[in-house]
Amino acid sequence: MRICAVESSCDETAVAIIDDGKIVLSNIVSSQINVHSKFGGVIPEVASRLHIENISVVIEEALQKANTTLNEIDAIAVTQGPGLVGSLHVGLLAAKTLAWSSGKPLIPIHHIAGHIYANAFVDEIEYPLLALVVSGGHTELVYLKTEWDFQILGSTQDDAVGEAYDKVARVLHLPYPGGPAIDKLAKLGHPHYTLPKVRTEEPLNFSFSGLKSAVLQLVQREAKLNQDINQEDLAYAFQEAVLGELLRKTKLVLDTYEVKHLVLAGGVAANSRLRVLINELNSEYPELKITIPPLWCCTDNAAMIGAAAEVAYRHGIRGNLQISANPGLEYK
Ligand code: KG4
Ligand code: ZN
Repeated sequence: MRICAVESSCDETAVAIIDDGKIVLSNIVSSQINVHSKFGGVIPEVASRLHIENISVVIEEALQKANTTLNEIDAIAVTQGPGLVGSLHVGLLAAKTLAWSSGKPLIPIHHIAGHIYANAFVDEIEYPLLALVVSGGHTELVYLKTEWDFQILGSTQDDAVGEAYDKVARVLHLPYPGGPAIDKLAKLGHPHYTLPKVRTEEPLNFSFSGLKSAVLQLVQREAKLNQDINQEDLAYAFQEAVLGELLRKTKLVLDTYEVKHLVLAGGVAANSRLRVLINELNSEYPELKITIPPLWCCTDNAAMIGAAAEVAYRHGIRGNLQISANPGLEYK
């Protein structure tokens, strides 16, 4: 089954051609990062406009690179949500147009389902599956007892983990997106600063806004005392605190639920320290299958939407031409 997948939920205009949910014939990502980094974050209005300018070119390039035509495509997949509404609309309209003009089925996909099924490019997904979802908009522990059966066991009460990275990076005057910059700095840092313990109402929920504020207060306090901040040590302290929380809650699930396979999903899955820590879980849980997505499919792309769409299609998921972008879409 050959799928043309479209992703435009945030600031990447992306189109991929995927065979049988696993073989990547092309995966074109046009990033708007250079534009948004000037503003220190994504400007939704600008993002939508750039998607409109780029989408046709990216579709064309994806078909060309895959050496295929719309006639040879069996279905059109598209991210329906969550994401920025204006950005989502552009991809959705493009995908609906492709589906309408070619007469092929439309498969609406949840963006995070895409991040989770990106792991299918490197490993066979086994169930019960636990996905630690860490992106710019989401931080969730998602449990799939069986295929395409999503249950959110815990999620963030405030900031998503990537959002916290980006906000702390801004405090430290690092470029956007802040995650990769903090990841790099933290490698050079040492234990020095102490940040407060995170508290959440529900044991499996997350909270990162307190940590972010603690970093801001620490920076302001040192500035008042005319003391220089050691950026590397502060990046280290922040990262260890955040990742410690992610690990602690993941283990809580592993200790209480039946889990055969653990996968990492979302942009923060690119974090070098998190990748090491997740892999190390194997010494504590030797029976557990662990998959970490390769770097090329951690951050937003359309290949992952194609991978999820192949599963969704088998589960009867179809969209008609009336469906709309849904920034708060739930798993289905
Ligand atoms: O999944 P993604 O590409 O977009 C969303 O769906 O949100 O995730 C983007 C997030 C950003 O917050 C970015 O700072 C973070 O992923 N990120 C990282 C790293 N690379 C990207 N965070 C920590 N360490 C990294 N190496
Ligand atoms: Zn994403």
